[in-house]
Amino acid sequence: MTTPVAQIVDAAAYAQAVEDVVAAAAAYYTDGTSPLDDDAYDQLVRGIAVWEDAHPDQVLPHSPTGKVAGGAVEGDVPHTVAMLSLDNVFSPEQFTAWTASLTRRIGREAARFSVEAKLDGLAVAARYTQGRLTRLITRGDGIAGEDVSHAIGTLEGLPEKLDQPVTVEVRGEVLMTTAQFEHANEVRTAHGGQPFANPRGASAGTLRAKERAYTVPMTFFGYGLLPLPDTDTELAERLDGLAHSELMALAARLGVHTAAATAVPTVTATTVDEVLERVREIAALRAELPFGIDGIVIKADLAADQRAAGSGSRAPRWAIAYKLPAVEKITRLVAVEWNVGRTGIIAPRGVLEPVQIEGATITYATLHNPADITRRDLRLGDHVMVHRAGDVIPRIEAPVAHLRTGDEQPIVFPEMCPRCGSAIDTSQERWRCEQGRNCHLVASLSYAAGRDQLDIEGLGATRVIQLVEAGLVADLADLFALTREQLLTLERMGETSTDNLLAALATARTQPLSRVLCALGVRGTGRSMSRRIARHFATMDNIRVADAEALQQVEGIGPEKAPSIVTEIAELTELIDRLAAAGVNMTEPGATPPAAAIDDPAAPADTPDDRPLAGMAVVVTGAMTGPLESLSRNQMNELIELAGGKSSSSVSKKTSLVVAGEGAGSKRDKAETLGIRLAAPDEFALLVADYLP
Ligand code: IVH
Repeated sequence: MTTPVAQIVDAAAYAQAVEDVVAAAAAYYTDGTSPLDDDAYDQLVRGIAVWEDAHPDQVLPHSPTGKVAGGAVEGDVPHTVAMLSLDNVFSPEQFTAWTASLTRRIGREAARFSVEAKLDGLAVAARYTQGRLTRLITRGDGIAGEDVSHAIGTLEGLPEKLDQPVTVEVRGEVLMTTAQFEHANEVRTAHGGQPFANPRGASAGTLRAKERAYTVPMTFFGYGLLPLPDTDTELAERLDGLAHSELMALAARLGVHTAAATAVPTVTATTVDEVLERVREIAALRAELPFGIDGIVIKADLAADQRAAGSGSRAPRWAIAYKLPAVEKITRLVAVEWNVGRTGIIAPRGVLEPVQIEGATITYATLHNPADITRRDLRLGDHVMVHRAGDVIPRIEAPVAHLRTGDEQPIVFPEMCPRCGSAIDTSQERWRCEQGRNCHLVASLSYAAGRDQLDIEGLGATRVIQLVEAGLVADLADLFALTREQLLTLERMGETSTDNLLAALATARTQPLSRVLCALGVRGTGRSMSRRIARHFATMDNIRVADAEALQQVEGIGPEKAPSIVTEIAELTELIDRLAAAGVNMTEPGATPPAAAIDDPAAPADTPDDRPLAGMAVVVTGAMTGPLESLSRNQMNELIELAGGKSSSSVSKKTSLVVAGEGAGSKRDKAETLGIRLAAPDEFALLVADYLP
């Protein structure tokens, strides 16, 4: 794995980078907000280190390198023993190199390693006096921290009383599990607060907040146990001699929740390979864990090995963090789509400015439901923290509220089902189309009745809903079986409307095959593809006997699409039979079937195409007038194809003719520049007169 480094080109860029990192670290360690995600922060810090290596005489005094918490925070309660940070490795090679340097330092190989989860929260020291929890201190700058004793009693896993009356300090990480984070944001927003962007920020903000009207629980995971100045000598000596794994076992016996006893149990390993094996195992577990981890901590287990390795001013030399790739990135929410599922559930989905997480490009993230959007106070244009681990569907954790510019727009909730137009049942958190499972039916019937398909006048979504609700129609063929009597039973259906609808259905029966095919809604066959298929095969029977190979003769159908069309047509057998039996036309006027499709060796070979637009690519632009005035764009395209041409929406060198009506703009200009033939609507109407509807 490579470790990306921000490129710093000169002293000014260096000074800016130092300022940015210090500001981000201050925000991160104080209230859990930060304008940078972890990757962006790490890259900048590495860039600073690279620049400082090359310009050691120009290092700024407030540079974050070599300092705990980037030098951003201070506290007023001194630590009895410095609370250090950890150095990082990012790959097996770097880890192997680290063990080699450790071996050199100790003068022998470390006897064994303890391998545990690196919990993604913030470090605290918990002081127990004779078994009573008396003080809680943040890490601060490592030398002194802030007193956060007000949080005592809100940290699961950190008892107020130990099982033995000992004086010790327990060190560990405070974090919010996924469930605690969700609960915290619910409570916080219910109190009018902004939701936290992620669990880490939530625990930092919560731990430091005093005098809040509410408390939200967090969890403590211990990873260190040490004597305090008041600890009795015998115990202090004993603790000093214990291996890390033994200390953790002791902490657990005292009643403290330790990192060792989580869903990622700590193991001890003796070889590099064993450690790396465990690193892989933990990395694989990560997506399923109920709390966030950002790596694995590997520690020389024996006290003697630790002592021999020693510590630097920022980090111990006997331990290392093997960082896992960040699973959270900040990006922007550009749109919200509303998709209707099979059961009618209307689910929002966030469209993101694409962002790379763990090597995958993320463009969508789930948003649960409208209540959740409101709770999180999400807005379009917001910077959002996106979380994706393993193959789990990416989710938006929350907006990064302090990055708001004021240009963010509210997310508009649908007022009608976006699929079928029915009312929405909003009584539950998950909104549902009132048609439930019938939603799909209403949508597909409305589509089939639409202007570009069967063009059944008087059959809009409202009427379709009425027919479905009355139980009169359960599929497309049922429409053509409707009787006058049945229609008259419906509300708001008088004699005239009934007769009009029956007449519209009679006309629909005569529509060309291309429109019938389109109305069936076979995936991958929209309007123009349906026309191509219909023209190619001429009859529905020919389409039904065509195999994938035969379908690939149609332009635009490749080896992937062909089999799925074959399967869907086969699934529609019964429906197509019933439509044909109801008198629906199943042929394409003017089309001649291909020789192969009719499976007749004596069939004549294709005759040359003598239609006026044969072989031509035609683009229509501007408003049509004269005989073409009433034609929709789709009907114009149908006309072009009937006359042997291919319709296209953009002008290129391949275009043969541009039909330019009133108000034609850039397409006309482009045609002129490219020297492409232009025709006015009237002129074009004459050219295709034989094919006009
Ligand atoms: S040991 C002297 N163990 O990671 C050893 N730290 O990036 C110092 N952390 O400051 C820490 N899980 O806040 C240790 N299992 C674990 C940890 C852990 C998370 C945090 C801790 C530390 C930071 C360094």
